[in-house]
Amino acid sequence: MSLVEDLRKTVIASYEVDAETASTQSFDFPLMPLGTAYDMGRDANGIPLFDPRIFDSREFQRNPYPYYRILRDHYPVYHDKLHNCYFVTRYNDIAECYFDGLGYNTIPKGSSNHVLGNTQLELSGIEHSRRRNLYGRHLVGAALTKRIGAICKLANEMIDEWFNPASGMTEYDPATGKYTMELGKAFANEFPIRVVCQVLGFPDEARDKFYYWYKYMMGGIGGRDYEQKGLMARQDLEDFVESIVEERRLKPNFLLDDEGNEVAPDIISELCKTIVDGDVLSTEEITSNIALIVGGGGETTRGAILNMWYLLLQHPDQMEAVLNNDPLWDAAFHETLRHSSSIGGQPRQNTFDVELQGVKVPAGSLMHMVDFSANHDERIFADPEKFDIFRNDLYSEKILRSGYKKDGRTNHMAFGVGPHLCPGAWISHQEGSIGSSIMSKRIKNVRIATERMAKDIDGVSLAPIGLGAINELWLEFEAM
Ligand code: HEM
Repeated sequence: MSLVEDLRKTVIASYEVDAETASTQSFDFPLMPLGTAYDMGRDANGIPLFDPRIFDSREFQRNPYPYYRILRDHYPVYHDKLHNCYFVTRYNDIAECYFDGLGYNTIPKGSSNHVLGNTQLELSGIEHSRRRNLYGRHLVGAALTKRIGAICKLANEMIDEWFNPASGMTEYDPATGKYTMELGKAFANEFPIRVVCQVLGFPDEARDKFYYWYKYMMGGIGGRDYEQKGLMARQDLEDFVESIVEERRLKPNFLLDDEGNEVAPDIISELCKTIVDGDVLSTEEITSNIALIVGGGGETTRGAILNMWYLLLQHPDQMEAVLNNDPLWDAAFHETLRHSSSIGGQPRQNTFDVELQGVKVPAGSLMHMVDFSANHDERIFADPEKFDIFRNDLYSEKILRSGYKKDGRTNHMAFGVGPHLCPGAWISHQEGSIGSSIMSKRIKNVRIATERMAKDIDGVSLAPIGLGAINELWLEFEAM
């Protein structure tokens, strides 16, 4: 019996013991050793068959990459008749679709607007760029660089709380001098939201409300059961925005640098004075813009920070290198987003009948661009399952809308490319690398508190990241 078969037997045995969890999943695919796909059979030519029910399985959630590999190798445009959509899984095909704003121009109408309102995600062409340009400059370039001090200040304020026993953020053991905390609760869940809240120009008192809007609007997008609560949160956001819009129309509020100098009006003030087609934006339009930024700026960066620390701590030599060379946080952030991004991909709807990789896709089909898979495409990145911040095929410099592909280096696909490239890419990059750099200067001897972490199916190894971000990251450390 091969090692893999042996492991599989163990895995299946442990899976059957875990009957409670198994019964909650839709389809009972056996849980496989990481990196190994369950054999779904072969066709007459020896090509692996692919059962679309795998997408609904717990196995796929924890171990998606070997399945994406089957798709990339044998079904690069996979027609999933069960879910009525097409999965595009190779890097070059996805990039081609993202750049073709006419052929694959929008996400399906209505897929986000019921909760977020009329957002730019569903627009294309001039309508889209006009909307995007209203606030985009606040999240990049000089406006962002001048505000780095403010981002550092927010990070330090949160870290101060780790050493304040009354905050309940950490547990301290005086006998060993060690602290234990869950990084999400103590930092990553709130830090990106605090940064975005500040750039938008919400008063500090609105911070708690911000969490409420964020949580329920995101929940509302996720599923019908939560839609009502999502709509209520959006209405509450709109009421709040209305209360400050009139005031900001008359007197804009300014973002300040760390010396108290005005950098630029905050995003709400900017939107309040914006004129489109001779008219100011309505409160509803302003709210929709804000709702999208609120929604886009939280979970994504939270996941990137948690995944980065999780991966670095499992590769101590790379962690050591980063601790000794601050600029390497940038490379670590990009490699994390390539290896284990917090968002998996984007839906598109094709405007015309198209043929891609020999598959005819009728106009108006739902097409999933699987960014997770693009980031693991061995046609672009060597040994893609390996986490390596020193890899020389990943481009990790200035993020470009046009993407980067030159001299054997390519950008990761976690922020997309083309007209819808994430406008929060730069700010989230600053949050992830600056926030982590500050953390690393205030704590030492950090290790994953494995005893508190969820375990994989063998009951011993740490649970894999799988799709998205790990839920919790427990750390033990000493104060610097
Ligand atoms: C690691 C963190 C992040 C990741 C991985 C991420 C990923 C993405 C991706 C893949 C898209 C493209 C959507 C498409 O092609 O349809 C996108 C769009 C967007 N993101 Fe992010 N994002 C992150 C952080 C942020 C932050 C911090 C903000 C806000 C401050 C933000 C705001 C937005 C907005 C407004 C859009 C819509 C852009 C458009 O349609 O033109 N994102 N994001």
